[in-house]
Amino acid sequence: MAFMSASDNKTILISGGAGFIGSAFVMHMLSSHPNLRIINVDALTYAGNLENLQSLEQEDRHVFVHAKIQDTELMHSLCEQYDVEGMINIAAESHVDRSIHDASPFIDTNVQGTLSLLTVARNLKLKKYVQVSTDEVYGSLELNSQGVFTEETPLAPNSPYSASKASADMFVRAFHHTHDVPTVITRCSNNYGPRQFPEKLIPLMILNAMESKPLPVYGDGMNVRDWIHVQDHCNAIWLAYEHGKPGEVYNIGSDNEWSNLHIVHSILALLGKSTDLIHFVQDRPGHDKRYAIDASKAKRELHWKPNISFEQGLRETIQWYQEHPEWCEHILNGQYRDYYSKQYQRER
Ligand code: NAD
Ligand code: TYD
Repeated sequence: MAFMSASDNKTILISGGAGFIGSAFVMHMLSSHPNLRIINVDALTYAGNLENLQSLEQEDRHVFVHAKIQDTELMHSLCEQYDVEGMINIAAESHVDRSIHDASPFIDTNVQGTLSLLTVARNLKLKKYVQVSTDEVYGSLELNSQGVFTEETPLAPNSPYSASKASADMFVRAFHHTHDVPTVITRCSNNYGPRQFPEKLIPLMILNAMESKPLPVYGDGMNVRDWIHVQDHCNAIWLAYEHGKPGEVYNIGSDNEWSNLHIVHSILALLGKSTDLIHFVQDRPGHDKRYAIDASKAKRELHWKPNISFEQGLRETIQWYQEHPEWCEHILNGQYRDYYSKQYQRER
């Protein structure tokens, strides 16, 4: 069956679709939009896991391309070959601790990669370009304050990760202002959910607790994050693509602030494990104290709202890790990096 048969068929290019948020986005969008085709470009870094996309191996509307977004020529030709309407840039180096250790991959992917995709969007006059950014570009709020990040909060990134994401946001802004590229930026708070790489707080604590290993809590554990389920974030990204106004920024968050220690206690309680597993370790250098998002603009203008309560979302996330021992084992023993099915080899 030829793909372009109905008038509302469209093809978008997304990047980073083998990662945590990207894979959730691809799976959700293809199941809820029967006329959508997704060209999924992913470099398969340590964070990319094709096992996340196993359910799509027979799906013709999913085209996986193993490549770096910095390859501007390839991105250009993919957009031409598949008649791509617009782009959503989800790919990134995403972990603060890694950026403290070595910031250069963050510049390559987050800044140079964004510039590459923006250049293609400009040259091919694509209909929309969505940059999936983060609330971390706003810096840190004081603990116990009433302050929240709005879209007008000045950018004040504190980590090399957030500095690279803020730089990318500035290029997005400049390409809209100078070249009239129809860009939209989303800035979301901390995500959690199935298939998150266990270097981030929630999956690391779940996997360690499941194995009765120590749970390393940085500093005094009182730093606060604003947690949102990945599915709610994915819905917001799509609404930003469909209805976001060019040149605008939309904050995404679930009004769900908790200290790290509270999160760790909740995970231990849900798993029936002892709090003796908690180990306070040396604090992260430059550790941001608190993030909190005002998402009223996205609610008002994109008609978005979060649907998953934290209580339900955390319970189901823990259950997902318990019910997928193979996924966890392959991550822990590194086997996930060998996964390259015939289906995907064909697309390479
Ligand atoms: P992730 O680390 O799980 O996945 C990143 C994906 O990008 C991986 O599949 C990786 O292989 C791919 N990738 C990395 N470099 C690439 C390159 N040069 N070219 C092509 N692909 C490349 O990250 P995530 O948690 O899914 O985050 C996705 C996006 O959402 C990032 O832009 C991040 O800044 C943003 N974000 C994340 C959160 C969060 O809590 N995880 C919150 C707000 C915003
Ligand atoms: P993380 O999941 O790395 O996200 P981010 O730094 O982007 O917010 O960390 C979330 C919070 O959890 C952050 O305050 C650091 C803290 N943390 C720990 O206490 N121990 C850990 O092992 C990790 C990975 C994070």
